[in-house]
Amino acid sequence: MPAPDLDTIVNLSKRRGFVFPASEIYGGLRSSWDYGHLGAELLRNLREAWWSAMVRERDDIVGIDSAIIQSRQVWVTSGHEANFSDPLVECTNCHHRFRLDKLDDPNTCPDCGERGTFTEPRPFNLMLKTYLGPIDDESAIAYLRPETAQGIFINYENVRRTARMKLPFGIAQIGKSFRNEITPGQFVFRTREFEQMEMEFFCRPEEAEQWHRFWLDARLQWYLDLGMDPERVRLRAHERSELAHYAAATSDVEYRFPWGWDELEGIANRTDFDLKAHSEASGVDLRFYDQDADERFYPYVIEPAAGVTRSAFAFLIDAYDEDELAGEKRVVLRLHPRLAPIKVAVLPLSKKDELVAVTEEVAATLRRRWMIEVDVTQSIGRRYRRQDEVGTPFCVTIDFDTLNDRAVTIRERDTATQVRVPIAELVEHLTVALG
Ligand code: GAP
Repeated sequence: MPAPDLDTIVNLSKRRGFVFPASEIYGGLRSSWDYGHLGAELLRNLREAWWSAMVRERDDIVGIDSAIIQSRQVWVTSGHEANFSDPLVECTNCHHRFRLDKLDDPNTCPDCGERGTFTEPRPFNLMLKTYLGPIDDESAIAYLRPETAQGIFINYENVRRTARMKLPFGIAQIGKSFRNEITPGQFVFRTREFEQMEMEFFCRPEEAEQWHRFWLDARLQWYLDLGMDPERVRLRAHERSELAHYAAATSDVEYRFPWGWDELEGIANRTDFDLKAHSEASGVDLRFYDQDADERFYPYVIEPAAGVTRSAFAFLIDAYDEDELAGEKRVVLRLHPRLAPIKVAVLPLSKKDELVAVTEEVAATLRRRWMIEVDVTQSIGRRYRRQDEVGTPFCVTIDFDTLNDRAVTIRERDTATQVRVPIAELVEHLTVALG
């Protein structure tokens, strides 16, 4: 089916507990979103899939968790204070403000339709500023980090030494970042508070191009392995004019969102820009010492930088489907089992005491391994639909025969096929089926 429109995903997200508008009881706060019970699980599963692929399954990458607020000097040295800005224009007719590089027509105001009314573009710094301590003067200025990457660069030597890493090696981190976006929007695609999954891969300068290619392929494959439609995801190399101030080359993993192709992840060759700059500014030698060659040099860095919240959104769009089962229309989220918020729903056919007792027994066993849900209300058909709509891969139904044969029915989400399995073999069966 063609990609669902934005409203369909926004409505489903709110109706079923994936995403709510932040501060909703006070009228909402544009660009901020809260994640409900299913959204929180989806985010956790995404982080887990990334951490597993990038850290746990590799012996050349370790993970850290650095502070959101660092010394202001970090952002001076990294170039963010001077350069991390978007071109801002204001319409002199309606006084609305826009990011010039995101306008379809740079001469026409998209809000009031007037032509030629924009002011000259001026750079607008995206960092969210705050003041530390009780006095809000220049000396107390601090920033909420706009990327998690700098927390890695400034800890490069700590990590290399304590984890005893040799080139090439990577440092990974997942965490919140903040940007004072001029035009947040398109649901959770662009927000002022968001979450990133970034990895800085340090290597010899002469090997940087080769590692860049490696990470482009590996990162694209990660989305495909989690079930993303290959027709809706691609790599695109940046034009020179698009490159960030620190990058020699960047390619984006792009997804075909309802409004067109847009960035999911950036994979940049950051050269030795950051380590060199921090070394020179701090006076701490961050060069790598190669014992065999007895030489010191600044490693180059390849950086795959993805968004947790943005990819959750893309996976929701990608998984959304409508089909017909036994003549009845249904909405089904075909989420990969690793991403599905609820792995198994346990559904007793009736609320009779005997069935409830077996339900509790089965649920207790499954709960130790997976996120499950027990649903006892309404017809079994309605309950299947409810689980399909939130992407639950398997429903386990407990019926009156269960009392005699100690077996249950497992229904698979995508095909609705059913198999009867002894309770004693349920965990084993589901372990294989969930992959
Ligand atoms: N350290 C490099 C860096 O931050 P980026 O391309 O600016 O690169 C990486 O950001 C990823 O972070 C993006 O591909 C996107 O997934 C996510 N991201 C960036 N800004 C965002 C925003 N305002 N809202 C949601 N996600 C965002």
